[in-house]
Amino acid sequence: MTAGLATDGVARRLVRARASGKVNLQLSVGPRREDGYHPLATVFQAVNLYETVTAATRADAAITLTVSAAPGFEGDLDGVPLDETNLAWRAAEAVREAYGIVDGVDLHIVKGVPIAGGMAGGSADAAAALVACAEVWDCGATRAELLDLAAGLGADVPFSLLGHTAVGLGRGDELSPAMTHGEFHWVFALQAEGLSTPAVFGRYDEFVEDGVRLAKPPRVDTRVMQALMSGDPLELGLALTNDLQEAALELAPRLFGVIEAFEEAEAAGVIVSGSGPTVAALAVSRQHALEMAAHVTAAGVAAAVVTADGPATGTVILEG
Ligand code: C5P
Repeated sequence: MTAGLATDGVARRLVRARASGKVNLQLSVGPRREDGYHPLATVFQAVNLYETVTAATRADAAITLTVSAAPGFEGDLDGVPLDETNLAWRAAEAVREAYGIVDGVDLHIVKGVPIAGGMAGGSADAAAALVACAEVWDCGATRAELLDLAAGLGADVPFSLLGHTAVGLGRGDELSPAMTHGEFHWVFALQAEGLSTPAVFGRYDEFVEDGVRLAKPPRVDTRVMQALMSGDPLELGLALTNDLQEAALELAPRLFGVIEAFEEAEAAGVIVSGSGPTVAALAVSRQHALEMAAHVTAAGVAAAVVTADGPATGTVILEG
């Protein structure tokens, strides 16, 4: 833990934690449950675009939140709430409540994951804030306790803690690690306008109600698991599927042009990331990823294009 002197002379402790963004290699969605959530069978892969959260203790009980951009971050920070609606803030409150902490905390987020892009940047903030706060307040939290708090904050937050590659069942929060071989090289085409996750699931429900889609129990695709073990991007590219893709494309038809541009650049596979609107393409090498990024940038179909590699780590403490 890093210690410093606050202006009032009280020692101030500081912890910095980092969590990764993710892409869903498979997203199989079942019929809407009573609680509004959908049963999922999904395969997450963490990628090396990072959210970093610093937690610094305060002498009073206030929580504050500030945000800045990581080098290379593409997006507009204006869309990030700086109040109790931010998942990182809610994570700090969840830790306080769970461990009877009365102290406040200054949180600072350095954003590297696209905002509202279907890459779980907000969930990464929550995971990093959970770990940073539990550490800075010396709560003695176990991994199981943190995973429990994470699931209470959002369906993707437990994966942000775990990282690497994992199968998610239930709401996506019942996780088992997946075996993988080597590294995969991704290109992400970002859009200026985000898509709302509930709206995309809502459109999916309408497809089911209208009989356009069959509501069937979600299941993990063995082709994805085999491709991950083989480490072959061509095999994995063919196995990528996302049941939310049709709904996302209907809500954001400009994404058709993005998929086409990636296909022109001979992507091994192209998929809408989670609930979108980010489109993820799998490359056969890092060099190919750079070439695809250049092609899609030139096509003018994305607000920004970034490359990243997976699998990346779960939430780690960088300082403190
Ligand atoms: O859990 P989280 O707040 O991230 O979920 C956001 C929204 O996504 C939910 O309110 C719900 O509309 C939708 N969702 C869902 N089924 C899941 C995960 C998320 O319907 N398994």
